[in-house]
Formats: sequence, C-alpha cells, structure tokens
Amino acid sequence: MCGIVGYFGKREASSLLVEGLSKLEYRGYDSAGVAILNEGKLEVVKCKGRLANLEDKLQQKPVIGNMGIGHTRWATHGAPSDVNSHPHTNKKGTVSVVHNGIIENYISLREWLISKGYEFVSETDTEVIPNLVDYYYEGDLLKAVIKATEKMEGSYAIGVLTTHEPDKLVAVRHESPLVVGLGEEENFIASDIPAVLNQTRNVYLLEDKEFVVITKDGVKLYNRLEEEINKEVFHVTWDADAAEKGGYEHFMIKEIHEQPKAIKDTMASRIALGQPINLDDIHITKEQIKNLNKIYIVACGTAYHAGVVGKYVIEKLARIPVEIDIASEFKYRDPIIDENTLMIVISQSGETADTMSALRLAKYKGARVIAVTNVVGSSASREADDVLYTWAGPEIAVASTKAYVTQLIAMYIIALFFSQEKETLTSEEIENIKEEMLRLPEKAEEVLKYKETIQKFTTKTSKHKDMFFLGRGLDYAVAMEGSLKLKEISYIHSEAYAAGELKHGPIALIEEGTIVITMATQEELYDKMVSNIKEVSARGAKVYAFAQEGHTEIEKSVNSASYIPRVMDLLAPVIAIIPLQLFSYYMAIEKGCDVDKPRNLAKSVTVE
Ligand code: F6R
Repeated sequence: MCGIVGYFGKREASSLLVEGLSKLEYRGYDSAGVAILNEGKLEVVKCKGRLANLEDKLQQKPVIGNMGIGHTRWATHGAPSDVNSHPHTNKKGTVSVVHNGIIENYISLREWLISKGYEFVSETDTEVIPNLVDYYYEGDLLKAVIKATEKMEGSYAIGVLTTHEPDKLVAVRHESPLVVGLGEEENFIASDIPAVLNQTRNVYLLEDKEFVVITKDGVKLYNRLEEEINKEVFHVTWDADAAEKGGYEHFMIKEIHEQPKAIKDTMASRIALGQPINLDDIHITKEQIKNLNKIYIVACGTAYHAGVVGKYVIEKLARIPVEIDIASEFKYRDPIIDENTLMIVISQSGETADTMSALRLAKYKGARVIAVTNVVGSSASREADDVLYTWAGPEIAVASTKAYVTQLIAMYIIALFFSQEKETLTSEEIENIKEEMLRLPEKAEEVLKYKETIQKFTTKTSKHKDMFFLGRGLDYAVAMEGSLKLKEISYIHSEAYAAGELKHGPIALIEEGTIVITMATQEELYDKMVSNIKEVSARGAKVYAFAQEGHTEIEKSVNSASYIPRVMDLLAPVIAIIPLQLFSYYMAIEKGCDVDKPRNLAKSVTVE
C-alpha cells in the first residue's frame, strides 16, 4: 500500500512530484523517493522516513528534469529502508518503476530473472518489475510493460520510465487505484485525485489493465492488446481546499467538525419529508428485496463498526436477517451465499483488499452487492452492482471520523428503503424517522460545542494505560468504535465490551481506579446499563457516562457524566460517537502523538 505519482511537461518535475506525494502520504509514509529523467539520464533520490526527509535530500542536491515518477511507501515486503524505497531500477539503471500493490508471484519471477542473469538488491516484490520490463524491452516501452504485466500476478498501479525513450511515461493499473491528470501541455499520473487537484480538474479514472502512455504530444490510452481506447474525461467539481486543513491544527479535528455537513450531504436528495426514499444509484427491485433470504454486511475496522449498527437497524426496521462479518474472515469460512443473498460492503476508500476479496467472492457466488463507499470511481464502486456514495468528502486523517458517521447514515437510508419496499413500517413511522434524521446535522453541531468539557475530562484521564468502553445494543457498537479511535491514535490500550458480558469474565480486570467509559443513550436499556455501571463502580472503577440530556440522575452512579442532545434511540450512534472521537483526539494531543498519521497505520489498506 503506497502512493504513486508521475509527471511529464514543461516544468521541473521534482517539486511537482513531491507536492503530489504530500497529498498521498495518507496511503503510507515510511519512505519516499523520486526518479527523474533528464536528457536520457535517470537520477533516483530516495530514503527511509517521511516525505520531509526526501525534501531535505532534494534541497541539498536538486535533480533537474521535466519528467519523473514518485512514491510514498507503506512497507509490505521488506522493512522500511533506503534500499527498499521506491523507485526501483534495474541494475543497468535503464528502467525505473514506482508501484502500489503486491506482486504475489514475485519469488518465482525473481528466481526466473536471476536464472537469466539479473541481480537484485532489495527485499521488495516491486524490484522484479523494472527487471521484467528490461527483459522484454525491444525498443517500445509500452509493449515491454504489457508483456511484463502478463507475467505479474497480484495487484499493481505502476509508473515506468526508461532511458531508452526519454520522452515517454507508461503506467497501468490492476486492482490498485490510478488516475491520469490532464493539464495544459503537461500531464500527471497519481494514485488518487487530491494529488493532482492543484494542477488540474480533468482526469481519466483508469480501469483494470488500461495502459496510459504520456508523451510530449499528450496522453493515449491502450488496452492489453495495444489497441487505443477512448475514455470520458471526469471533471472534478469538489474544492481543492476540501483536501487541506482549512485553519485547523489537524485533519482529524477538521474532519470531526465537518460531520454536520457530511451527514447533511449524505442525506440530501435521498431523504425528504413526504417523499419516498430516493435511491437512484441502487437498482435492486421490490421483488428482489422481498425475495432476499439474508444480507451480509462485510467491512473492516471502523467501517465494520458502522456495519454493526447496520445489522441492528436493518433487522429492526426491514425484518431481514443480517449477518455482519469482518472482511478478512469472511472469505475463509465458506459462507452460504446464493442469488437471493445480498451483500453490503462498507468501505471509505473502496480499495480495502480484504473487503474487495469478500465482494468478489459474493459476486462469484451469485449474490448482488451494494457498495457503500466514499470514493467515486473506487474499485468497490466499480465492481459492485449498486453504489451508495457517502458524501463525506476526502478523508485525510488516518483515523476515520466523518466517513464513519456518513456510513451510519447510509445504513439508516438502506434500512428505511428496504422497509419502504417491503412495507414493514407504515409511512407514518418512516416519516417520523426521516424527520428525526433531518435534525441530526443540527444535533451534531450542538455536541461539538461541548468540546472543552471533553478536553478537561481528557486531561484528568491521560495518565491511564488501560480503559474500558461499555454499552448495550447500539451503544455497544458505539463503544467498539470509541475504543478503536482511542487505541489507534493515542496508543492507550482499551477494550470495548457488551456491558452485560462483563460479568462473564472481563470484570476480573476491574480494580481500584480503572477507567470505564459507559454509554447509556438507549432508553430501553438504560436501567440495565445503570446496573452494569454499579457492578464496576463497586469494584473500584472510575466511571464516566454519556447519556441523553435529561438523565441527570445517572450522576449519582458515576464519577462524571456528559450528555448528548435528545435524539431517537435508533439514531443515537450518529451523535454519541462525536464526544468519543473528541476524547481520542484530545488524548492523542495530550500524549504528544502524531494524530493524523498514527504509527504502523495507513489510510487505505490494499493488502490482505
Ligand atoms: C480506523 C480506520 C480503519 C478503516 C479500515 C477500513 O479509524 O479508519 O479501521 O475503517 O481500514 O477502511 P475502508 O473503510 O477504507 O475500507
């Protein structure tokens, strides 16, 4: 998992490549590099560490040239090191490659190439690519790249340069994202749109096994048979500022504040009072919905937690059995799927390898697949039968916040749509839920006003090494997400439990002073939750509770309580998660952690 960029035009390539890479660091940031072609000479500068290290190196020793490729890495094969950084080059120094993805058969390719006299210096899978291209090169870079990709198994988006043809950049994608940015007498390649958005709004969204050749005459696209293909230009309408920090200290806090708008945008045109739920991007028929025997919701991490809420609301409102699965487990348990099964995959990036494998398996077995994703043109959006976009806008911080709340909204919309089509709810009941949903952006704004209270609470608890999050029903789903946020950005060990389950074992861990954060937003389960709070308090825990406004009596049972605005129980997760996101954020700041780029993580996990 990595980010790649490429440039050919009239300007100096290196600064443009570095600028593009800075927008892709969310894809990985353990090393970076560029290769520049100048008058037939290839110069590679690369090093371990953040992009800033590469910038320092380039400042000390600038590389001149108006054609180049660049890379920001998240290590898979071989530790982060200078030698394992991209670009990779063949020994003769004639072919250079940047790669995002994994070449699964690289060991056999490497052995085969060694038998032909090639030599390798890194531990990476990528290094086979420049050598394969060199092996097949007979005077035409495109032909050589096509032949090389015929040998490669796995996923890749690659950019390739050769000293033999100093006026040509060739790129191709297969199961890893790649776009082509179309400028005025200059063109770009990149893993994602934000990397080219400061330069152009016109892009090609490449499909698998589409090859692009950039020369001084412009951009040409080819299929694997080397036939030229035409493609529609995609005009990006969203604001470049949307991918910048806009005055906030970190992307994460900016994105937390963008949630009211993200919620509103995701509902817009789909939910309106007095109108049926409008899902023009989902084409499943009434008949197909009625015949559904089961729905699988499959996702990873935060998206999985949105799926847990999805299971609850779809079953409750539409009365269809739902199974929720972690994508990396789904494929390996031989799930029972047929043509009356529906799969809903949830993925912010739409590129997560585990989620994509599950999607492909479900399709292969005949199920219909709906993708809930935030990225237009992502693999999930293209491979699923139907798409429901979450209009959160680009999410840059590694820890997901605004994408999560929009995924929740997507779950409510799907549940309501199925209830409408199956007539499991009266139109009055549907109107009532819609009315409450339309008030969510305002309520999300209201919670954000309490951020100072959360900040103070964080200061009191920041020295603790372990914490527990408890909840029942939908609050349990929120507890899971709150716990994940805390551990991923502040590195505090935390566990989420269904509150009723604690007494079956984990309560043994509670001792004097253990911090327990309890969610008590569900009216129906409120009394039971208070009993669980008493159980942990009696064993010395320091308990903090989040409840709906008006439940001040909870203060008698806990050390401290905070409130969220009154909201229908069913919709409470959308609001209740916000204080937990803020809690994690302030905790990470308090502990001096790198909020937007937590250690060992990457925004988009494109390896299984
Ligand atoms: C956590 C987080 C991850 C992602 C997970 C799935 O804050 O962001 O757990 O939710 O890697 O990513 P997507 O949604 O892109 O499939």
